[in-house]
Amino acid sequence: MDPVSIIQKKRDGEPLTRKEINFFIGGIGDGTLPDYQAAAFLMATYIRGMNSDETRWLTEAMMYSGEVVDLSGVNGFTCDKHSTGGVGDKITMIIAPMAAALGLKVPMYSGKGLGHTGGTIDKLDSIKGFRTTLNTDAFVQSLNDIGIANSMQTETIAPADKRLYALRDVTATVDSIPLITGSIMSKKLACGADGLVLDVKFGNGAFMQTEKDAKELASWLISMAPIRNIRVSALIDNMDDPLGYKVGNALEMIEVIEVLKGKQVDDLVEISIAIVSEMLRLSGETGNVKAMAKEVLKDGRALVKFREWVTYNGGDGTVIDDYSRFPQATSRMDIQLDQSGTISGIHARAIGEAAVYAGAGRLAKEDTLDYGAGIELHVKRGDRIVAGETVATLHFSTPRRTPDEIVKMIQGAFQLSETPVSPLKRIVSTIRQ
Ligand code: URA
Repeated sequence: MDPVSIIQKKRDGEPLTRKEINFFIGGIGDGTLPDYQAAAFLMATYIRGMNSDETRWLTEAMMYSGEVVDLSGVNGFTCDKHSTGGVGDKITMIIAPMAAALGLKVPMYSGKGLGHTGGTIDKLDSIKGFRTTLNTDAFVQSLNDIGIANSMQTETIAPADKRLYALRDVTATVDSIPLITGSIMSKKLACGADGLVLDVKFGNGAFMQTEKDAKELASWLISMAPIRNIRVSALIDNMDDPLGYKVGNALEMIEVIEVLKGKQVDDLVEISIAIVSEMLRLSGETGNVKAMAKEVLKDGRALVKFREWVTYNGGDGTVIDDYSRFPQATSRMDIQLDQSGTISGIHARAIGEAAVYAGAGRLAKEDTLDYGAGIELHVKRGDRIVAGETVATLHFSTPRRTPDEIVKMIQGAFQLSETPVSPLKRIVSTIRQ
């Protein structure tokens, strides 16, 4: 078998065989195929697409390019959660303790943020001492001890994806359904959970722009479940406005703790309850899953579990009672608009980008983060404001652009209407196997 004929076949729109896909992806994973052939394969796949068999074989081959984690040593139903990425998306830190307090085991391999969307690892790193890299033994131990294990995705999981993803970024081949499906599901399946709830987002702050595209992607992702015989569901939700009120690593962790202490941040609570309900459902729970999810948040058990999670991992648990122990930005700037009206939208991508410029995210992989930097919103879609009212606060120490430029970006993110506007409806549907 030779790589050129495989690229040629795909270029000409012919379906590839399982053997051909295994050969090609194997060569990507072990480094025997060069970047230029990988890039040509990506472009041919981007343009010609893949049928469902090819996509399944691609996902499988990418999964087997690295370690396939065995969680059979965990006592209980293991259920993972994956978000396709958003702005202010801190849901993982809320749902993990909720689900674990309800007896589920929550294994999660997460990443760092890149671009306008934040990463779970960066948020956890804003708690001093929190260990965010666990080897497989420690990962299993953590699941058995406290019901949660979260680790940075290691180099050994789906190495073919690591190479392909980096190439996709620079060859304009990111937004391809088979390539996204292979990328996400190879990693998720390699992590070995019994169940998986996907949070597939659409809108200006998300990867997929429209609800239709998000639903199509969700169906493809779910259709990969038989590869490891796992149970998968997907929530489809809107990411036109940032989630919650805070964007930036330490700021988001504070908001997580506030929600776990009972603060009613509507969108965060709604999505968290929906995800935990779905996790319970996948585990075979037949009771009132929504009521169980609501209760564990309300009665403080999720907060107790969160504290356990932080201290088990060596993190400074005092942050939970004293937010001043989180990294703080040295400067704050309140932001006003010069018009009155009703907020009809807060452009999530613009807020995400402004947070990156404030120092909360990376423009390049090697950039260091300012954990205290970010944006606090004081209003949401549907709120009425008057000119001169403070709508947001910028937190910064060593921003990547001037504070005035960032403030302008934030002001530009607000859309106003003369007429009443309803709050953003987040969850539009749930897709099940
Ligand atoms: N997240 C991934 O891991 N891969 C993609 O292709 C898109 C989002």
